[in-house]
Amino acid sequence: MREQQNFYYGGDYNPEQWDESVWLEDMRLMKKAGVNYVSVNIFSWAKLQPNEETYDFTTLDKIMNMLAENRIGADLATGTAAPPAWIARKYPDSLPVDVDGVRLLPGSRQHYCPNSEDYARLAGALTRKVAERYHDHPALVMWHINNEYGCHIGECYCGKCQTEFQVWLKGKYETVEQLNVSWSTDFWSQRYYEWEEIFLPGKTPTYANPNQQVDFKRFMSDSLLDLYKMERDIIREFSADIPIMTNLMGLHKPIDGFKWGAEMDLVSWDAYPDPYDEIPYAQFMAHDLTRSLKKKPFLLMEQAASAVNWRSQNGAKTPGIMRLWSYESVAHGADGIMFFQWRASQGGAEKFHSGMVPHSGDEESRNFKEVAELGQELKRLDELVGSEFDAQVAIIFDWENWWALELDSKPSDLVTYMRQLLAYYKVLHRLNVRVDFVHPNEDLSGYKLVFAPASYQVSREFADKVASYVEQGGHFVANFFSGIVDENERVYLGGYPGAYRDVLGIYVEEFAPMKRGTTHQIQTAYGDVDIAVWEEVIHLRGAKAIASFKDGYVAGMPAVTVNQHGAGTAYYVGTQPETAYLEQLLRDCLDAADITPPFAVPAGVEVTARQKGETTYYFFLNHTDKTQVFDIGGTFAELINSENISNFMTLPAHDVKILKK
Ligand code: GLA
Ligand code: ZN
Repeated sequence: MREQQNFYYGGDYNPEQWDESVWLEDMRLMKKAGVNYVSVNIFSWAKLQPNEETYDFTTLDKIMNMLAENRIGADLATGTAAPPAWIARKYPDSLPVDVDGVRLLPGSRQHYCPNSEDYARLAGALTRKVAERYHDHPALVMWHINNEYGCHIGECYCGKCQTEFQVWLKGKYETVEQLNVSWSTDFWSQRYYEWEEIFLPGKTPTYANPNQQVDFKRFMSDSLLDLYKMERDIIREFSADIPIMTNLMGLHKPIDGFKWGAEMDLVSWDAYPDPYDEIPYAQFMAHDLTRSLKKKPFLLMEQAASAVNWRSQNGAKTPGIMRLWSYESVAHGADGIMFFQWRASQGGAEKFHSGMVPHSGDEESRNFKEVAELGQELKRLDELVGSEFDAQVAIIFDWENWWALELDSKPSDLVTYMRQLLAYYKVLHRLNVRVDFVHPNEDLSGYKLVFAPASYQVSREFADKVASYVEQGGHFVANFFSGIVDENERVYLGGYPGAYRDVLGIYVEEFAPMKRGTTHQIQTAYGDVDIAVWEEVIHLRGAKAIASFKDGYVAGMPAVTVNQHGAGTAYYVGTQPETAYLEQLLRDCLDAADITPPFAVPAGVEVTARQKGETTYYFFLNHTDKTQVFDIGGTFAELINSENISNFMTLPAHDVKILKK
């Protein structure tokens, strides 16, 4: 595979919206902004193919040639994300159907059923044409398949999807009897005798079968992945050494990122933090998650120069924030910073989405100046490309668990995957601890400390792996409503948290979820601490209590426990405590696991690192609006400004520095 040499900088480039006179100006401004890489052809299908028999590559030829002449690399899309209107007219069954049975109309984008044969055939044919034509074009540096799979259409309820679901189930279970067992169909008289009796879990009188629902999500993610693989395999026939990928969406529920990442040469995602958030931790978490899909550098494929158009109120990124959040992604493993889109559209649904070039076209605008300054600055960072991110802490992440956890009919709908993951991630981020997200099938032995928040659905194999990891000296942290069911949504019997009972040294007799909006307390070594969401009846079976509940009928019972298991330690948090306490608790866990951040920095300053051979790059990011001064205990070379910094670092509000060691 051809290796990336330079740090990528650019954005989605959609020049077909503009008169060619604008293209010349684009090339001039791209140079000024340090742009070396653009994504083209993402939404050009209708222009490339006026009808089923005719293709017209005149415009795309011109665009590709212009990019080559200007030495700008092309991330060339297959163009299959928005089928032309004539396809909808000629093949109406290719349109997706929503859960109410409504067939969705063309006229926006992504209007295709993930299992439509006509869509797949036509998308495949277009992909073949594009690959045939451009596979050795000098501008080509990357293949971009489709766009944001599952963004709008994560599932479809058409008849074709139903028959394909039956085929998928047959592949998974082999016999209907095996499916009956796995779906617990003897409850509510749901037993099946023939594959053809199985419907999609659409609108049912009340809760649809839980494992049927999870299987449907697995099936839909796989259906979309099959479309990706179909296009990828066609491209591979023509292009052996150009990387192929699609842009993922971070914390995006419909797509099983680990499964998808395995099929891509590199991963990328589109980040749209809300500028109204002071520190958008969920977005930061998604950088770590995306890198973790392959445990390799990733690309930030899209971000907004300033505002987006699709929230109810769309705040602007204030001065310095676009730069700061761009570096946040670099500090967590990005080897490219891209935007949607190069030039703000004059018309169409996204005309109020910021672009690298604003509607004014003004080179002196703050928007363009910040974009151009960052682009020039990033040219000094080429040596970072390919550097690795070395984490000692793992957080387990599993899409299938996410799907299962958030089904209906649970003890409390306040328990959501993101809320639980974020509670822990945020504290680790604030403590400047580097984190990988790890799939349950991956090896844990390289990590000193493993978190598994809200790991409700876990396999026996994973639970056994955790047990031997701890036995051999690992440190493990689980919280409430974890280790509860197997992959078939069947409860581990004999007391909660069935799968983790031994390693945690506890037995949970019953759950006592709290009413929305209520706050109770627990008593801890750090004083009394507010809790929300969850209480439960915990019995010690070898573990020791380090906090206890204070209210109601669980008063005096253990709330947080720690268990020595073999050479390691397993912690259990039976509630959702306030952040300050979680921070204390996690400091203790980090101490026990012997993990210390590389530098001590003031609150609101982040420090993280990337590694290349013997060289370590330390990133310092000031997320506060004040200048921060702190001791770095030595002299270091700084990469962005090519200066030496000795002992005290002065880091202005929202500024970033990269030290090299
Ligand atoms: C997504 C899409 C882009 C654009 C942006 C707007 O990331 O991939 O085409 O719609 O959102 O924020
Ligand atoms: Zn369908």
